[in-house]
Amino acid sequence: MCGIIGVALRRGNAAAEVYDGLERLEYRGYDSAGMSVKTDGGTVTVKRGGRVANLKDSAAGLSGNVATGHTRWATHGEPSDKNAHPHVAGKFSIVHNGIIENYRELKEERLKGGAEFVSDTDSEVIVRLLNKDYSGDLLAAGAATVKRLKGSYALGILCEDFDGIIAVKYKSPVVVGFGEKGIALCSDIPALPEWVSAVCVPEDGDIVSISAQSASFYDGELQPANRVRRPIFAGQFNCGRGDYPHYMLKEIHETERTVRDTCDAFFRNVDVKRLTDYVRNADRIILTGCGTAYNAGLVAKRFFSDRCGVFCQVEIASELRYSPVHITGSTLVLAISQSGETADTVEAVSSLKEAGAHVVAVTNCGYSAITRVAHLTVPVCAGAEVCVAATKSYIGQLAALYLISNLTSDIFAARKKLLEVGGKVGELLKGCGSADKIAKECAQSSAVFFLGRGADYAVAVEASLKLKEISYIFSDGYPAGELKHGTLALIDENTLSVIIICDESLAEKCENAVSQVASRKGKVAVITSLEVVAEKLKDTAAVWKIPECSAQLSPFVSAVALQMVAYKTAVSLGRDPDKPRNLAKSVTVE
Ligand code: F6R
Repeated sequence: MCGIIGVALRRGNAAAEVYDGLERLEYRGYDSAGMSVKTDGGTVTVKRGGRVANLKDSAAGLSGNVATGHTRWATHGEPSDKNAHPHVAGKFSIVHNGIIENYRELKEERLKGGAEFVSDTDSEVIVRLLNKDYSGDLLAAGAATVKRLKGSYALGILCEDFDGIIAVKYKSPVVVGFGEKGIALCSDIPALPEWVSAVCVPEDGDIVSISAQSASFYDGELQPANRVRRPIFAGQFNCGRGDYPHYMLKEIHETERTVRDTCDAFFRNVDVKRLTDYVRNADRIILTGCGTAYNAGLVAKRFFSDRCGVFCQVEIASELRYSPVHITGSTLVLAISQSGETADTVEAVSSLKEAGAHVVAVTNCGYSAITRVAHLTVPVCAGAEVCVAATKSYIGQLAALYLISNLTSDIFAARKKLLEVGGKVGELLKGCGSADKIAKECAQSSAVFFLGRGADYAVAVEASLKLKEISYIFSDGYPAGELKHGTLALIDENTLSVIIICDESLAEKCENAVSQVASRKGKVAVITSLEVVAEKLKDTAAVWKIPECSAQLSPFVSAVALQMVAYKTAVSLGRDPDKPRNLAKSVTVE
């Protein structure tokens, strides 16, 4: 949700480093891109609407040792050249990720002060304020400016009088990376330059003065602040998409590895004793997240109900703050987030923590905001997920949650089952011919309904999200039993219903849904792990028989099958599955 990057180099060309960084950061927004470079002739800024590639030629001509860059996901002001960052005024250039909630009032004030605004963005007020507040002391101007801002911001600021970058963080993510070539700042660790070997994560309110040699951290009162420097190996993240045509396909093929690594990290890195105490003593368990992470909670709720015998509820994080939930000192909150930066999730679990709950983060990103809120973190080891649509991280979340749910029973048996089901995903991905058939049906339908019962219903909800976000076909995930209570009215020969049947005890009832749709001339596809169901329905529906597995763990396999259907549908319609329109990864605004 907007990406910012900056580098101050001892050697090399900062413009080239920033351009490469923008390509890596593009998953955070692709409405426009821009960069400012300190050259021998002063600061030069180039920016373009659209993809980062549009900037390539202009960036190629620039050179200097300090530069900042931005990829935009538009919130205020349409995607265009003029609304692209960096925003420049007087001696300053700024890149901003976040939202300035009081920008109207600040803009009004600056307009009265004689400033002229050239964009429709909220961010431009920051650069206008900096100009007003600056009289030679850069840190003081930065502190004065951010004191006026309400909202969230990660900033990279260049000033003509300083051969470096000022970074500011409040509620939006930014990390500072150190390495042999110099110092970098970036929204996400995986997008840092390869030469970075250690990172510091500023705290909310911090202001950081970065030069090629050093970075000094200050709190909001400009008192020196000591921030821990941790070693990393940035090169491990920047692995490209290899021979795959899209990141989405590559990442789906990393599912089995994700399950394995998530299991390994659970036993290696998690404070299992403390986590077991949380689970054993929980009077209720609340699973929360947004989008796909929430959908992982829908599946996992069944793990906990089955294993822990405790009341378990799943809440959409963006609604949780407005829901009356009962919290005690024994309530366990499992905060699910790939990025660990989703503002709604971070805010929701912060307030539950304040109310006394134990908060456990289930996340793919160490050092992220959610890990700082949580009492404990359970890592999801999907590795960098570049495709905007979550795939391997969803399955990794399921694996981590399954392990947690088995802490008070036989955790080693749970691990074995997970490794087995990971293998089934590998088996599935060796033969996806049926995905082509179902994708073709999807692409030719005006709407696609995903239906199931029990865990299959939870998968249906995720399958629907995946299809709609990357193919732009209307879809809905629905309990199969609810069909006749309303949705059946929408079924006609132009709609497709995809019915997921992986639980033998519910199969007959799901077959009823197949008949109900088929008798209204609706098209039907079936994804099933059950041979008998596949055989029975082969003349009524397009059937994909997926590898057999237990009903409880079947979502690991059926969800991947449906990710493949979504992927193939999007590609057949000429959509870019990695960068769906209007979306961005890591939703750091509320
Ligand atoms: C859908 C998708 C989103 C995210 C949601 C939460 O494919 O990726 O729905 O799941 O924005 O993001 P995280 O998991 O980073 O909190």
